[in-house]
This record gives sequence, structure tokens and C-alpha cells, in this order.
Amino acid sequence: FLSLYLSTLIDLVNKLQKACTALGDFGDESSLPTLWDALPTIAVVGGQSSGKSSVLESIVGKDFLPRGSGIVTRRPLVLQLHRVEEGREHAEFAHLPRKTFTDFAAVRKEIADETDRETGRTKQISSVPIYLSIYSPNVVNLTLVDLPGLTKVAVDGQSDSIVKEIENLVRSYIEKPNCIILAVSPANQDLATSDAIQISREVDPKGERTFGVLTKIDLMDQGTDAVDILEGRSYRLNFPWIGVVNRSQADINKNVDMISARKREREYFTNLPEYSHLANRMGSEHLGKLLSKHLESVIKSRIPGLQSLISRTILDLETELNRLGRPIAVDAGGKLYMIMEICRAFDQIFKEHLDGIRPGGEK
Ligand code: GDP
Ligand code: NA
Ligand code: MG
Repeated sequence: FLSLYLSTLIDLVNKLQKACTALGDFGDESSLPTLWDALPTIAVVGGQSSGKSSVLESIVGKDFLPRGSGIVTRRPLVLQLHRVEEGREHAEFAHLPRKTFTDFAAVRKEIADETDRETGRTKQISSVPIYLSIYSPNVVNLTLVDLPGLTKVAVDGQSDSIVKEIENLVRSYIEKPNCIILAVSPANQDLATSDAIQISREVDPKGERTFGVLTKIDLMDQGTDAVDILEGRSYRLNFPWIGVVNRSQADINKNVDMISARKREREYFTNLPEYSHLANRMGSEHLGKLLSKHLESVIKSRIPGLQSLISRTILDLETELNRLGRPIAVDAGGKLYMIMEICRAFDQIFKEHLDGIRPGGEK
């Protein structure tokens, strides 16, 4: 009963985020920027080639992101997952509102092309996000942000300032108290030097909103294992560490599909004696479920604050719409109405079920 309302809430948060996004710069005079910051997001951070994009793909269960060695992700990708009960799996970009993608290889190509459009075919980065929505019966409602990888040195064609630029870009997402951090560290490097741990520790010293994800466990030196890390003895976080085994570059070149990759990942943890006792809390499928559950509880705890912010936004939007006069020809007017509709839907849920979903006040 309770979780039904929570999933409706998450769905509304998703829609609201999307609507705020579509509005772009518009809305400076209303409380929309505040509203956007108040909505929880999940950002993936870590060093270059630590496996961030691979982790995201595994959570979604689809091949659609450019991956590989070197700096591949050069713009933030805001990825909204919408669970739909029926219909064909498809994707949409905010910059191509009238186009529906059913071929996920074409989605990957569009991300790469859209990255180049902003940065040129260079190795520069841009802080302008790409917004992508995926609708599927196989996803949980989540908003995830893929970010360029942290690095220590500039490479050919990059200015020396790039190291700091990437760091500042990443920090601008993860310093927000509502950002849940997926800190990705590769198991074949020393955890003490992990870029993900360093930057997340800086913005979340107590590890209260950081999930540690350990990739490349399959690439560790023979005779070593990740048990100390996975059991939280190497670096303590509030949440349990999650180990994953993504596809290797050779797998990608051989087109190993996601379903067999997930199956192999499951078998990896169950069959290896050092990990079998942890197997039921390892892997990308588990990570996806854990994040969705966590997001629910975050939203639940934020309900009172969200509620007053939503009421304020409705008032602001009404004022703004009155000022613009009706009917409004410009596109922005229509989008404001859309946001107001969603806010009203929120308001309705709060009014009907507030007691049931207020923290500590279960029905
Ligand atoms: P990002 O730069 O952090 O987004 O990393 P990518 O997801 O692009 O991955 C970088 C490279 O590492 C790719 O060639 C992946 O195939 C490979 N990779 C990522 N995770 C794993 C893993 O768990 N095991 C293995 N063997 N390779 C991985
Ligand atoms: Na990479
Ligand atoms: Mg990447």
C-alpha cells in the first residue's frame, strides 16, 4: 500500500525533473531552480575508465552508452529511467523532442554525435548536459547522471586546465545535499588512490549518501581478492559496498549481450568460494534495486520539505502565468502549465496520503 504511493511519488519526481529540464533557462523568477535542486538524483563518479558507463548500462540492462579506454564521456548525461507496464522499449532525447529511438545502437551514436556537436571532435569536455529518457518495463524509476571521469593528467589535445575543469564539473553535481553518489573504484587499483573515494569523501565525509561500487573484480591479481573492501573493512561507508563484474573490452568487441553478461556476473559471485557468502548482495541487478529502494526512502524523508516547496512553486507559477497573460503563445508558457499540472498532482497526493507517507507515520 505504502510503496504504491512511493512509486507514484518517484514517478512524479521523474516527470517534474523532466519538465524542469525542458524549461531550460526559463524560470529564473520562480522557485523552479530551487525545486530542481531539491529533487534527489544519483550521480556516478570515478576515475577515467573505472567502469562508470558500464555500471550505468548494467543497471539499465541495455547497451546504449559510449564506453572504452580514455576520455569517452565528455558531457554530463542525465538519464531518466521510466518504468512502463507495456509498449515497446524506447528512448528520447530532450534535444530531439519529436524523435523516438527504438534502436539503442542509434542512441549510443546520438550521444557521441551530440557530444561532438558541443565540444567539437576534440578531447575537451563541456558542462552542458545531454538529457536522455528511457521507457521500459525492465527498469526501475530512477534519475542517474553519468559524468566525465576524473583524471590526474591532461592528454594530447587537452589544455592543462582540464583536470580541474572535470573536478569542478563533478563537484557541482555531488556537492548538492540531495545528490546520491555512486563512487566507482576499480578493484585492480589501490583503493587508497581511488579518485571516486577522494572526491566523495570531500563532499560527504561521513559517507551518508555515498554508495561504494567496486568494478573489475575479475581483473584483480591472482591470489588477491576484494573481500576486505566488500565487507567494509578497507573503507567504511554507511551503505554496504557492491561489487560488480562488467563486460571487458574484449566482450564489447565480441558483442556479448547484456543478458549473458548479467548471468555470467551472477555465476561469478556464486561460484567463487571467496565471494559466495556475499553473492546475494553483489552485482548490477542488486545495485539497481538497492538504489531504487534508497531513493524511495530519501523521497519519503523529504516529503514535508518537498510539500511546502511544491505549494510555493504552484503559487509562483500562477503569478508568473498571470504576468505572462493567457493564452500564452510561447513554448515556455505551455511548459509552465505542464509543471503546474505535475505540482498539482503532487499536492493532491500529499493531501490525500500525507499521514500515510510522513516519516514515522505509517498507516
Ligand atoms: P568509464 O570511463 O569510467 O565510463 O569506464 P567504461 O565503462 O567506459 O569502461 C572502461 C573500460 O573498462 C571498458 O573497456 C570496459 O569494457 C572495461 N570494464 C569496465 N568494467 C569492467 C569490469 O568489471 N571487468 C572488466 N574485465 N572490464 C571492465
Ligand atoms: Na572511459
Ligand atoms: Mg564513461
